[in-house]
Amino acid sequence: MNDFWRNRAVPSEKIDLSTFGIHGFSLQVKREDLLHPHVSGNKFRKLKYNIEAVQLQEQDTLLTFGGAFSNHIAAVAAVGKEMGMKTIGVIRGEELKEKINQNPTLSFAQNCGMQLHFVSREVYRAKENVTFTTNLRRDFGDFYLLPEGGTNSLAVKGCTEIIGTEDMDYDFVCVSVGTGGTMAGIVKASREDQTILGFSALKGIFQSAEILKYTSKTNFQIIDSYCFGGYGKIDVELVRFINKFKNRTQISLDPVYTGKMMYGILDLMKKGFFNENSRILAIHSGGLQGIAGMNGLLKRKKLPLIE
Ligand SMILES: Cc1ncc(COP(=O)(O)O)c(C=O)c1O
Repeated sequence: MNDFWRNRAVPSEKIDLSTFGIHGFSLQVKREDLLHPHVSGNKFRKLKYNIEAVQLQEQDTLLTFGGAFSNHIAAVAAVGKEMGMKTIGVIRGEELKEKINQNPTLSFAQNCGMQLHFVSREVYRAKENVTFTTNLRRDFGDFYLLPEGGTNSLAVKGCTEIIGTEDMDYDFVCVSVGTGGTMAGIVKASREDQTILGFSALKGIFQSAEILKYTSKTNFQIIDSYCFGGYGKIDVELVRFINKFKNRTQISLDPVYTGKMMYGILDLMKKGFFNENSRILAIHSGGLQGIAGMNGLLKRKKLPLIE
């Protein structure tokens, strides 16, 4: 396997909870966001074995899907550049075609060499249909298809490497949840007496079913009480929290995933959800590239920005 994917050690940093007025627990943040500047966090883990499969199949083109500020699109584009592979991004929203320069994620992807293919929301919804992929193959030639969000069994295999033997003493491992692939890997790698606690970044906890496709373990729980109204939705309170957390810990959080998870962890501590003296590990799954795009939206709404 290419040297790029070798296992890199990331630190777990202790958070001084007393600066948040919280006592009686220990919280460490596993800095998966430091794995790589552009292929960070769960994206590195999800892509590792998929790229190995691409190389084994002697493919040279990756095709995937994503929205306007997708971390997955940015990471696939960066990996393609790094590995010398062609990348195609099928992007939700035809109107974005005219606004690439105003969108930091899409301009980054394009600068990495990704070919962007914009489709309407209606067409995008049908992206799992065989006819849609057949048409894409007719238009772009053969490719290795990565699903939206990058979750498949090889991605889950990569995500089992997020936690290792050094993490087996934590009572709780917390992670942000989109499709559930990242959490599935962590559940698989966990000890059965640990609880893996997932913070859904969107309304609903339907990802449990997805996780159970990959593991028979049931030592996990997903909550959506900290999704702030839904996917990509944020409010001033969340922005203020992200800035406060950065200020007190020097750790940046993103507004779509890790910011919501961390807000939830601290709130649950205050509400007595965790037993006293619980040892908690929070996974920093990356996503920091999304801050620039979110700040663009906040600026237009004249709201405080993420620092
Ligand atoms: C930064 C970040 N954290 C967490 C997640 C959630 O991952 P998953 O879709 O595997 O649940 C995502 C989405 O892929 C993400 O970009």
